Amino acid sequence: MRELKIFSGRANPKLAQDICDFLHLELGSLSLGKFPDGENYCKIEDDVRGRDVYLIQPTCPPVNDNIMELLIMIDSCKRASAARVTAVLPYYGYARQDRKDEGRVPITAKLVANLITRAGADRVLAMDLHAPQIQGFFDVPVDHLYAAPVLTNHFKTKNFAHDDIVVVSPDEGSIKRAIGHSKRLGGKLAIVDKRRANAVETEQKNIIGGPVEGKICLMFDDMISTAGSIVGAAKLVHEAGAKQIHLACTHGVLCGQAIQKLKDAPVDSIVITNTIPLPPEKQFDRIEIISIAPLLAEAIRRIHSNKSISQMFGDQMARES
Ligand code: R5P
Repeated sequence: MRELKIFSGRANPKLAQDICDFLHLELGSLSLGKFPDGENYCKIEDDVRGRDVYLIQPTCPPVNDNIMELLIMIDSCKRASAARVTAVLPYYGYARQDRKDEGRVPITAKLVANLITRAGADRVLAMDLHAPQIQGFFDVPVDHLYAAPVLTNHFKTKNFAHDDIVVVSPDEGSIKRAIGHSKRLGGKLAIVDKRRANAVETEQKNIIGGPVEGKICLMFDDMISTAGSIVGAAKLVHEAGAKQIHLACTHGVLCGQAIQKLKDAPVDSIVITNTIPLPPEKQFDRIEIISIAPLLAEAIRRIHSNKSISQMFGDQMARES
């Protein structure tokens, strides 16, 4: 088998190091920086000729910098004759711009997929894409991972009584995810009727299903960005008499006032994965970070040795997303 090499961009080097630790591999050496005029610079310091290369770079904020850095890392590896380059995108930014929902707007999720493919990525490894059909935006194979098993296990360790649990979908787009979690964790299901006024404002109207009164409500989302959606849903569920509220998401984008909104929210705990780094100044006592490094490491090991990725999850996850 060609030698496996892993390199990290500057978006989440800790995650890349954790992945390497699981694989008992040394993180590849490269130099990244900026020229005085702000243009990005990259030099791969290790020999990658004929190697199976994995570039770890969530395209989280600063989104444009991180995307550009990924593109020039891919280009550097291709020009250095890497046999295969896999773009590992634990978080794929621009994913929410995935359709023309009004005239004269771009489909940026497709544009960025084109950029990554044209730069020379032979494969993509992604996690909890905002919409699973984004896999089709890449004209190269995409392996899609799910953080759901990790989040489910987190709540299983809490030993909540099944009859006490209500899994609450924070909007209609997350219903399949909520159904999956409720199958694994037990309990009833509820859906918050969310209306989006614009990119940053949402309104939560009604709760369908439940009831949530006196219950432990668990809410799962793919991402928390401004926290408007999930905090709005949590407030509604709290007003309806929930006994406890716990939030879980894969991607903690946590931009703008998100942290303050979460601190002020009537929630008992928030669990997020480390697809995006959460700096210490944004952390607080009710936020817990769980690592998806073992999942990504196992996926890289399997891709490298041509083993199935879907067997890591069974067919169930794909149906839930
Ligand atoms: C919505 O479609 C998504 O699943 C998230 O609920 C949403 O994008 C989160 O954004 P924010 O935190 O800004 O409400």
